[in-house]
Amino acid sequence: MKRIILGITGSIAAYKAAEIARALTKAGHRVDVIMTASAARFISPLTLQTLAGHKVHSTLFDEIAVEDVRHISLAKAADLCLVAPATANIIAKLACGIADDFLTTTLLAAHGKPIVVCPAMNTAMLAHPATQRNIQTLKSWGYAIVEPRTGDLACGEVGTGALADTTRIIKTIEEHLC
Ligand SMILES: Cc1cc2nc3c(=O)[nH]c(=O)nc-3n(C[C@H](O)[C@H](O)[C@H](O)COP(=O)(O)O)c2cc1C
Repeated sequence: MKRIILGITGSIAAYKAAEIARALTKAGHRVDVIMTASAARFISPLTLQTLAGHKVHSTLFDEIAVEDVRHISLAKAADLCLVAPATANIIAKLACGIADDFLTTTLLAAHGKPIVVCPAMNTAMLAHPATQRNIQTLKSWGYAIVEPRTGDLACGEVGTGALADTTRIIKTIEEHLC
C-alpha cells in the first residue's frame, strides 16, 4: 500500500479524477484527495471523499490541527503526488513556486517526492509559450508529465489538450512508485 496525494484542479475533466481515485484505491493504495476551490465547482468533494474513504482537503486555514500541520504531514507521508487534471493555472503556479492554497502549499512541501502532472486544457492554452515553458520547467525538475491526448475537447474544438486516459495515468504512477 502506497500513499498517493491526488490533487484535482478546475478543469472540465475534473470528473475523470473520480475514476482515477477509484482505480488507485482498487489497486490497494491510500488516496489523499486535495481539491482546489475551482475543482469543487466541477465535481463534488463528497464524491471523492466517498471513493477515497477519507476527508477531502481544500481549505488551508480551516485545517490547523493541534497535533500537526496538515499540509506538511500529508506531504511527508506521501509516496507520490499526482495532479489530475492539471490546469494551466496550477502548472504556472508550480513552475513559479507559488503556495497560496492547500494544494500548491502541499506540493511545494512535497519537494523530493515523485510528482506526476496530467495537463488538461484547451489547445490554445496548452500551446501558449507560457504553458509550454512552465511544463518544460517542471520536466527539468524531474516531474513526470502525462501528455494530454488529441481528440474532442469540451470547448467544442478538436485538438490536443484532453486529459490522458486513466490507464496511461495509472501506468505512469506505478512506474514512479518505488
Ligand atoms: C467551464 C470551464 C471549464 C474550464 N476548463 C479548464 C480546463 O480544462 N483547463 C484549464 O486549464 N482551465 C480550465 N478552466 C479555467 C480554470 O477553471 C481557471 O483557470 C481556474 O482559475 C483554475 O483554478 P485552479 O488551477 O486553482 O483549479 C475552465 C473554466 C471553466 C469555467
